[in-house]
Amino acid sequence: MKEVDLIVRGAAQVLTMEPALSNAPEADVDAREVGAIFGGAIAVGGGRIVEVGAEERIRDSYRAAETIDAGGGVVCPGFVDPHTHAVFAGSRHVEFGMRMRGATYLEILAAGGGIHSTVSATRTAPLDELVASALPRLERALRFGVTTMEIKSGYGLDVETEIKILEAVRQLNGRQPIRLVPTFLGAHVVPREYASRRGEYVDLLVSAVIPEIARRGLAVACDVFLDRGAFDAAEARAILEAGLAHGLRPKIHAGQFTDLGGPELVAELGGLSADHLEVISDRGVTAMAAAGVTAVLLPGAAFSLRDEFPSGRRLADAGVRVALATDDNPGSSRTENLPLMAAMGAARMGLTCAEAWRGVTVNAAAALGLSDETGRLVSGLRADVAILRIPDFRTLIYHFGVNHTAAVVAGGGVATQGIAS
Ligand code: NIG
Ligand code: FE
Repeated sequence: MKEVDLIVRGAAQVLTMEPALSNAPEADVDAREVGAIFGGAIAVGGGRIVEVGAEERIRDSYRAAETIDAGGGVVCPGFVDPHTHAVFAGSRHVEFGMRMRGATYLEILAAGGGIHSTVSATRTAPLDELVASALPRLERALRFGVTTMEIKSGYGLDVETEIKILEAVRQLNGRQPIRLVPTFLGAHVVPREYASRRGEYVDLLVSAVIPEIARRGLAVACDVFLDRGAFDAAEARAILEAGLAHGLRPKIHAGQFTDLGGPELVAELGGLSADHLEVISDRGVTAMAAAGVTAVLLPGAAFSLRDEFPSGRRLADAGVRVALATDDNPGSSRTENLPLMAAMGAARMGLTCAEAWRGVTVNAAAALGLSDETGRLVSGLRADVAILRIPDFRTLIYHFGVNHTAAVVAGGGVATQGIAS
């Protein structure tokens, strides 16, 4: 008998996300693709997963100080939300109402609203206010079972405020259980004060802001909004190359409104992900598949902007790894409900239940460069686990819009228990 810290038992299904570990019948293709172990259990020690296997085997091999009974539910990797803008000040509910009356996102942006209005609010908010207003968002995400979340800057658009946002992310990392992954998005839009000299803003990012962010170790990735109304392909290349030179891995907001070659650019630069992709060419799809760039689809943005949903099916069929994210932000997608994104990924983007599940776990971890850390339940990975009060994993997608999460373990520590009762 080995001593461990925690055993999770009593599961109908443990989803490892490793098809080779599944004991599901061959005919249950979805269950095999999510690596389901029927009657499985897990042992956790030192913040890591020690072993995953049949419950009898875990029971006979380990003794634990603490046990969680999954109550016949589903035990799965803690969800990974690989694209959010969850640190911001203010609210854009009035703009939302305007959009529901027919105004478009790009019209509001061009008129100095949209992202610009969040930039004004965020510039004046003190750091502790940014931290305090983000905490309830993270708490809501945790209750849905999220244990890893990317957060982008991009509502500062000046050195001081971009640093303030990323500093807020750094402080939040130590103040609550979700592991936060910071991305620099200084190239979100051209700030209004640079409207007539956009080249100077790009130069500022390349020569001053990116080196300073990197020097302070405040971000691990660099993102650009490459689209009509934001940055063009040449600007995006200069910014992503500067980021890369400072150790920041490329990501891109691409094809939300217009295809400007973002997927090809990130593929060429060996980046982590291309996100949005409401509009993408066959060349872009092929380039992403060949380079192993993850597609991060954002159902909440297409939903809230009344846009066409991108086809997850087209990407998956072409061999692109597909992830799903909330895009939680004050403008285009205000939600922390990542399981709902999985439901939309299946019902509205053509993904299977297994693909939607992989999109918020293993593939989402890949979009953050964390494949060896989280997103699967296999020995050695961080013990990020969610316990869902549903009898079968498909029910997460089928019974949508509500919270099925009963307990969450983040980095081996029980973060919430009995939360869905
Ligand atoms: O991912 N498209 C650009 N950025 C965000 C929206 C940010 C905002 O409107 O505040 C997005 O949709
Ligand atoms: Fe976004």
